[in-house]
Amino acid sequence: MKITIIGTGYVGLTTAVVLSYLNHDVTAVDKDKHKLSLLHEGKSPIHEPGIQSLLDEVCHTIRFTPSVAEVVPDAELIMIAVGTPPKKNGEADTRHVEEAAREIAEVCHPNRHYTLVIKSTVPIGTNKRVAQVVDTVFEERGIQGNISVTSNPEFLQEGLALQGAFYPDRIVVGANNVNAFDALRHLYQPILEQTFDPPTFLPRPAAYHLPPMMTTDPNSAEMIKYAANTFLALKISFINEIAGLCEDVGADVTEVARGIGLDSRIGPRFLRAGLGWGGSCYPKDTAALLGVAAQAGYEMPITEAARTVNFEQRKRIVEKLRYVLKTLKGKTIGILGLAFKPNTDDVREAPSLDIIRQLVAEGVNVRAHDPIAMPNAQQALSEITIEYCEDVYSVSHNADALLLITEWELYHRMDLRKLAKQMKTPILIDGRNVFSPQDAMDAGFHYIGVGR
Ligand code: UGA
Repeated sequence: MKITIIGTGYVGLTTAVVLSYLNHDVTAVDKDKHKLSLLHEGKSPIHEPGIQSLLDEVCHTIRFTPSVAEVVPDAELIMIAVGTPPKKNGEADTRHVEEAAREIAEVCHPNRHYTLVIKSTVPIGTNKRVAQVVDTVFEERGIQGNISVTSNPEFLQEGLALQGAFYPDRIVVGANNVNAFDALRHLYQPILEQTFDPPTFLPRPAAYHLPPMMTTDPNSAEMIKYAANTFLALKISFINEIAGLCEDVGADVTEVARGIGLDSRIGPRFLRAGLGWGGSCYPKDTAALLGVAAQAGYEMPITEAARTVNFEQRKRIVEKLRYVLKTLKGKTIGILGLAFKPNTDDVREAPSLDIIRQLVAEGVNVRAHDPIAMPNAQQALSEITIEYCEDVYSVSHNADALLLITEWELYHRMDLRKLAKQMKTPILIDGRNVFSPQDAMDAGFHYIGVGR
């Protein structure tokens, strides 16, 4: 199929390279000159495992351009994958989605049919609004026009984006007409039937079952995306709430998570207690859902509570440091991990940013390390001065405490004995429960985890 994708962020670029790999004819549009020049050189502007290898494979067929007008008229299917950043009141700002829809409607052929797919995460009702934007432009142009607006929410997880794209749990499509469902079924056919040869670095998981394509109405499709993210966010907040109580009563939350996760109704995933969720999705999407609810005059106390518990985790960890160090002012604390999760350079809403700001405000000398996200963190924390270190041993040298915030694989393999030896006081606060408390203690650390 001839496809145009508007936006080359995490979702747009991943979708573009995957669909190109599946032999669709893909052009991606982005107005950001810097991103485009990188893409024209065949370089990925985002850090995502496997994306560069896949881009190398498809770079002769995929095209990147700044011009909607140049590519939209000939496309069969157009996807909108632009950002929907939070407004001041928490609601998602759909301005870029609507702008993209307007530009598309302005240049499409009057006599051709197009499927317009909304991939961006958007508030419930956006599909309808986008259809209205398109109709208004058609009226202005004095044409009939024929665009089916379709909602196809994206469930991509950063760090695992390609796995999710090639081997999804499900594909959700919301539309009001059967043609749109057929177009999306055709688009995703290689994935739905798993007829493609997997990339060498990403074999098909052994126990993988063919994914269903769920068809529904547009409002429900939009709601599915928010409900899925909010449910996952509250699953994590729930285990973090249990973790707090485990600390008070002497239970180990990792054991509790294992025990409840074995119940197939609960399941083992997303029960890792720690510093809670960050990133561009859960914080934004839970706030946006509350925004949608507020507009409807509806209260969502569970979602509110999930947010409260989540952001408290960041304060609680600073309290743990204060408790163990007695006073924070003048102390040197080493931070391991700045990205909001491993395998990404993304620091948006990362727990590290809040924690570092709190520590610096308390007069702490902060040293930090991250294998990938340091440049982004430096930018996000430009208002404060901290020391960025190239390796974990420089972070710990003469430090009063170490605080692990992101569970990068590299930290699992650190020589704990060596680290403990070179610290002023060997205190390890393990914000993601990466280490066995016994191993850390055997290496000479005073160990504090979350909920154990
Ligand atoms: C999330 C969803 O998982 C995707 O399905 C969705 O498409 C995406 O949001 C989105 O809306 O675009 P993502 O934010 O990339 O994906 O990352 P997750 O793996 O879900 O992790 C989010 C946060 O939760 C991270 O900060 C992670 O450290 C934290 N987390 C995750 C925990 O604290 N405990 C867990 O058990 C799991």
